[in-house]
Amino acid sequence: CRVQQWDSEEPVPRAELLSGVAGSRGLLCLLSDRIDREVLDAAGPGLKVISTLSVGFDHLALDEIKKRGIRVGYTPDVLTDATAELSVALLLSACRRLPEAAEQVKNGGWSTWKPEWMCGYGLSDSTVGIIGLGRIGQAVARRLKPFGVRKFLYTGSGPKPQNAAEFGAEFVPLTRLAEESDFVVVTCALTPATQGMCNKDFFGRMKKTSVFVNTSRGAVVNQQDLYDALAQGRIAAAGLDVTTPEPLPTDHPLLSLKNCVILPHIGSATYATRSAMAVLAATNLLAGLRGEPMPHELKL
Ligand code: NDP
Ligand code: DGY
Repeated sequence: CRVQQWDSEEPVPRAELLSGVAGSRGLLCLLSDRIDREVLDAAGPGLKVISTLSVGFDHLALDEIKKRGIRVGYTPDVLTDATAELSVALLLSACRRLPEAAEQVKNGGWSTWKPEWMCGYGLSDSTVGIIGLGRIGQAVARRLKPFGVRKFLYTGSGPKPQNAAEFGAEFVPLTRLAEESDFVVVTCALTPATQGMCNKDFFGRMKKTSVFVNTSRGAVVNQQDLYDALAQGRIAAAGLDVTTPEPLPTDHPLLSLKNCVILPHIGSATYATRSAMAVLAATNLLAGLRGEPMPHELKL
């Protein structure tokens, strides 16, 4: 292949993408590249394969891509463990107030051992609700179970008894999941149905002592509603690996809250995982260019 590469960790500027893609047969993109009609038009009719270095595909205009007969490769499975691990780390950081406590050590707030100081909420005997019991959702449940979780609830487009059996997880409507969970973990895909799903009504149903964690996509959450719930103590804490927009402006109100832990979309960020994602994305692309089955092709 003749390869034209944007050789930088920074996202390719839109104008560079539009000019660089012209005449290409294949395109390897990141989740920060919006692949829409404009890009497809710029590429021209020769574009046969798009390979994204991500399992999420909400940045791809799939209807338009399908209409043009373009195949799509993506990177499921290889990032499941790393993302589940980060989800658990974020949950524990939020519920046991780790960043806030570490800050107290640095700024002199640690005066002595005090019975009620820096208390949070633990997983033992808790109910955990998982929104989207897919690959990552199951891997999160598998990691949380040994902490002594009493009950797993989950929601999605329908019951998935095979996914749920290992955890004895119960399929419930979103409203019941919000009302009964001590911890809510969002691991679903961003779709028109899930966009803004965690909103004022959802947070209003959660317990005051519950913790909310999102490692899916920022747009699943109405951030103003989340801010209000956290600021007014209607829920205990939140951990977010994904936000709207990304990066979150440094003066964003959510960053002023002690009970909100925010990470810069690092779910899959281990060296081994990113390397596996890169190899899979390249292999998908090459297979697509050869007209062969891809290791992981998205069914359009
Ligand atoms: P899967 O396809 O295995 O799981 C997606 C889940 O979303 C499915 O269980 C699906 O449930 C669920 N879902 C779809 N519609 C709804 C709905 N209306 N309500 C609730 N759940 C719904 O994908 P993965 O587990 O591999 O990845 C999930 C997402 O995680 C990715 O799409 C990506 O956005 C995000 N991600 C984030 C990372 C990060 O760095 N923070 C890293 C990797 C992924 P059902 O089958 O019932 O429809
Ligand atoms: C994905 O793959 O969708 C993540 O957001 C980054 O790994």
